[in-house]
Amino acid sequence: MLPPASSLTDFQTIDLQEFAEETRYKFLTASVVPRPIALVTSLGSGGVLNAAPFSQFVIVSVTPPLLAFVAHDLPGGQKDTVRNVLSSGSFVINTVSESMAVQVQQCSEFFPPDVSEVAVVGFRTLPSEKVTPDRIAESPLQFECRLSRSVEFGDHGSHTTMIVGEVLLVHCAAGVLEGHRVNHARLNPLGRISGRAYVKTGDVLHV
Ligand SMILES: Cc1cc2nc3c(=O)[nH]c(=O)nc-3n(C[C@H](O)[C@H](O)[C@H](O)COP(=O)(O)O)c2cc1C
Repeated sequence: MLPPASSLTDFQTIDLQEFAEETRYKFLTASVVPRPIALVTSLGSGGVLNAAPFSQFVIVSVTPPLLAFVAHDLPGGQKDTVRNVLSSGSFVINTVSESMAVQVQQCSEFFPPDVSEVAVVGFRTLPSEKVTPDRIAESPLQFECRLSRSVEFGDHGSHTTMIVGEVLLVHCAAGVLEGHRVNHARLNPLGRISGRAYVKTGDVLHV
């Protein structure tokens, strides 16, 4: 039921420009919620399989099928994922189910480029068919992607890169695909709120 009209006039209005960078980041990422998570695997220059979660993740186009994620630079420069994708031209978006939460959080910690997060957290891998980076076997649905374009954003020392990938092939674990439909109970996706807060998506509302 919608709330009564009398309760719809009490708002606090803010100007994001007046926030410090970190506060703005926290406000935006805590407001646009819940977000799906792309666990991106990419190959480093030494052949190291990198894995990192990105929840600024969106469908850009259906035809062609384009998916995108956005990565913020670290103070030292681009994240490993961005560097790997721009130099190799391909990546895999591994979707994330509830049972992967702890490992996904661990993958987001800082590891030097020569260390594979995949090996550290104990995910198993499967070879991809059309791109070079492996896929995460625990992920119920994986998108093999070829870099379509990258778009740069940023101001006042803040820099982000949107990586857009064309989906070349999709792998669905047993039970995920029913005809052309995705079985969400089997996918059991994990959503991100902010920081270390996640949301389970099993409580579905049909309207
Ligand atoms: C669930 C989750 C979602 C995240 N989403 C993003 C994101 O959308 N953009 C981003 O720049 N960092 C995001 N991060 C942080 C990166 O995963 C983290 O910086 C990671 O170490 C990058 O790894 P890389 O240097 O191997 O690419 C997220 C972290 C978590 C735990």
